[in-house]
Amino acid sequence: MAHPTTIIIFGASGDLTRRKLIPALFNSYRKGRLPQTFQIVGFARRPWDDAQFRSLLQEGLVEFQEKSFNAAKWADFAPRITYFQGNLDVPEDFIRLREHLPTLESGPTNRLYYLATSPEFFVPIVQNLGQAGMVHEHEGWRRAVIEKPFGHDLQSAQVLNEAIHTVFAEQQVYRIDHYLGKETAQNILYFRFANTIFEPVWNRNYVDNVQIAVTESVDVGRRAGYYDEAGVIRDMFQNHLLQLLSLVAMEPPASFEADAVRNEKAKLFQAIRPLRLADTVHAQYDGYLQAEGVAAASQTPTYAALQLYIDNWRWQGVPFYLRSGKALADKNTEIVIEFKKPPHIMFPDIDDKDFSANTLSLCIQPDEGIHLKFEAKVPDAHTTQPVDMEFHYDSSFKGNSLPDAYERLLLDAIRGDASLFTRSDGIEAAWQLVDPIIQGWKTHPEAPPLATYTRGSWGPKEADALLARDGRVWRHGCMH
Ligand code: BG6
Repeated sequence: MAHPTTIIIFGASGDLTRRKLIPALFNSYRKGRLPQTFQIVGFARRPWDDAQFRSLLQEGLVEFQEKSFNAAKWADFAPRITYFQGNLDVPEDFIRLREHLPTLESGPTNRLYYLATSPEFFVPIVQNLGQAGMVHEHEGWRRAVIEKPFGHDLQSAQVLNEAIHTVFAEQQVYRIDHYLGKETAQNILYFRFANTIFEPVWNRNYVDNVQIAVTESVDVGRRAGYYDEAGVIRDMFQNHLLQLLSLVAMEPPASFEADAVRNEKAKLFQAIRPLRLADTVHAQYDGYLQAEGVAAASQTPTYAALQLYIDNWRWQGVPFYLRSGKALADKNTEIVIEFKKPPHIMFPDIDDKDFSANTLSLCIQPDEGIHLKFEAKVPDAHTTQPVDMEFHYDSSFKGNSLPDAYERLLLDAIRGDASLFTRSDGIEAAWQLVDPIIQGWKTHPEAPPLATYTRGSWGPKEADALLARDGRVWRHGCMH
């Protein structure tokens, strides 16, 4: 971290820069975690100067990170930010940038190129960087951080990977999935592999089913233009839900080194049985069609639920149920591992039906923690009742606020740790799994029809039926 570093943000006038990137960099700066010598260059089309750019970023910081804003620190930080006006698809503007950067840098400097643009600019930016000779590593490393969505299907992801690989080597590429930067998502591997008592039961012998839910109360809001093209599978499943699945289901890597972790994820994805349309539900919330930017009679799902299987020794026969949607009752991300019931109930006053299974809930957000539910004897009675053993970050780690995912991910990219970034094979494997579903819903004669659900509900009744046919229900282990 002693080496000078320049962070160049392409698409710097966009929301992501104000909302996430600058607050993350500012917080890392406050904590003394950025390289001693660094600067941030915002590249965008608008005719702004440094002062205008800084003041917009400052407003964003105050709006989104009011608690951590500190005027004195900002006064130190802001002069390191400059603005460069340019077009993402004009090669000459990259030549100008190449000539401009050394005027800010003194001597060999690392460069992090952050592609915070809409996806149609990913290839032009990469090609322009290549053509301008800005990718070779003679004078420090060169890395590219690429935002999502990474392609819109397998083929486009492959084309994008190929275009990137003609310019950058894979180890220079950092594909972001911000769910992997969440503390609680990272904790899944620590929970599993820094303890001894959970892993022995983490398999088909003890686990009845696993549920992964990422529910959101917000609707598509002002993003309807993008969302109507994408839909919930591309927006949430291809990336975030499958990444959470890989953390919960992968085999232990031999080390925490980036490729060791990503190799295990790749193996896991390869072991997922192709999804069957009959094991899926897709639905749209009432009122979605009225949102501005949504096509008339759009069939885009805003909710989906899937059942899948992992064909390996650990998970054979254990169903994994995944669901995600917008305009639902509450925002909640959780993974529930439901264990099998005891093989025999010896207590005469307890009916097998009344006996609930043990569940372990990994609460990713908003109430971050872990809950273990088990049966306890009701005092002065011969029956039992489920009780909860709970860990909450805010009470166990008082004073350590949970950093935003982008803070960790940006620092990792600067440090050169790619373990929380998706490798090209991981991205392609995820598309390979979900593509047939997206296509099948549109064209397959036996695909389930698009269901509807009421805003503010927990989703369509069809999603309950998906579990009910196996005698199961969706669990809310993190919410009381
Ligand atoms: C993004 C999706 O990747 O994740 C959004 O594009 C979604 O539609 C968001 O709202 C959810 O992220 P978080 O961190 O708020 O759970």
